[in-house]
Amino acid sequence: MTNNQNTTFTFLNGRTVNRIGYGAMRLTGQPRNFGPYADWQGGIDLLQRARDLGVTHIDTARAYGPHENEKLIADALLAEDGTYGDMFIASKGGVEKSATSISRDTSAATMKRHLEESLASLRTGNIDLYYVHSPDGVTPITESVAALEEMRQTRKIDMIGLSNVSRVQVEQALKVAPIAAVQNRYSPADARDDELENMIDWLNEQGIAFVPHGPLGANPMKQGAAVDPGDALRTLLARSPNILAIPGTTTIAHLEDNASALETQHA
Ligand SMILES: NC(=O)c1ccc[n+]([C@@H]2O[C@H](COP(=O)([O-])OP(=O)(O)OC[C@H]3O[C@@H](n4cnc5c(N)ncnc54)[C@H](OP(=O)(O)O)[C@@H]3O)[C@@H](O)[C@H]2O)c1
Repeated sequence: MTNNQNTTFTFLNGRTVNRIGYGAMRLTGQPRNFGPYADWQGGIDLLQRARDLGVTHIDTARAYGPHENEKLIADALLAEDGTYGDMFIASKGGVEKSATSISRDTSAATMKRHLEESLASLRTGNIDLYYVHSPDGVTPITESVAALEEMRQTRKIDMIGLSNVSRVQVEQALKVAPIAAVQNRYSPADARDDELENMIDWLNEQGIAFVPHGPLGANPMKQGAAVDPGDALRTLLARSPNILAIPGTTTIAHLEDNASALETQHA
């Protein structure tokens, strides 16, 4: 299957998503993306508006809340037949959050436990894409990925992703299992990083999606884009056909603006 380079990306397993997705992290308690989102119904409305706009790729993580962001997504997007239909849900495990701290544990046992918890929060038996959220610096990436590969073999997830990783870690992981997506921080607002630029091109050659987090240059713990959102999204879409944007927002007006970057990228 070929990609329509303007608007869609097709993963290695044949699943296609629109290249403007939605990063749901900010639909959580503030500050620190901890606890449930204060305006629960507003969050449901926003996620359903995203679906109606054709935004199919929703990015979340067990750590957002924790659990609360995934539960909100289930309340908003789970269909009566108990599936997410055309919606593409990506989540992550391996990060633990409390009211005052954040820590990483990407051991095999924790990755499996976190994935089971994500399945429960999302009220589903299968997640489209599940990332190692951030390697803990102790567990070899091959161990974390082997644990997810076991879960992929039993169809609890369709694809494996890696977040906050180097190219070397991706190469190590590829020896254990197919990797469908890499999610690292990247934005036109950030200083140029040649290693990352080369990695994006290499991932594209492998057919692996690159999902920049903080695409508008925002500080994840603070409100506000660092650059003009429309310009940033058009720049990202033009940079490489494997880039999938997941801008975050808490307002439907901004969601609509961001979704329209897909139509205006050649304007
Ligand atoms: N893997 C990781 O370690 C990791 C880390 C951080 C984030 N992420 C993922 O990346 C996603 C996006 O990151 P992010 O939300 O931190 O940053 P971002 O997308 O760079 O920026 C979000 C900020 O920009 C503002 N904004 C969005 N659209 C706008 C528009 N059209 N006009 C004006 N302001 C606009 C939002 O404010 P308003 O609410 O006012 O619109 C929000 O404060 C997250 O949701 C999460 O899924 C992953």
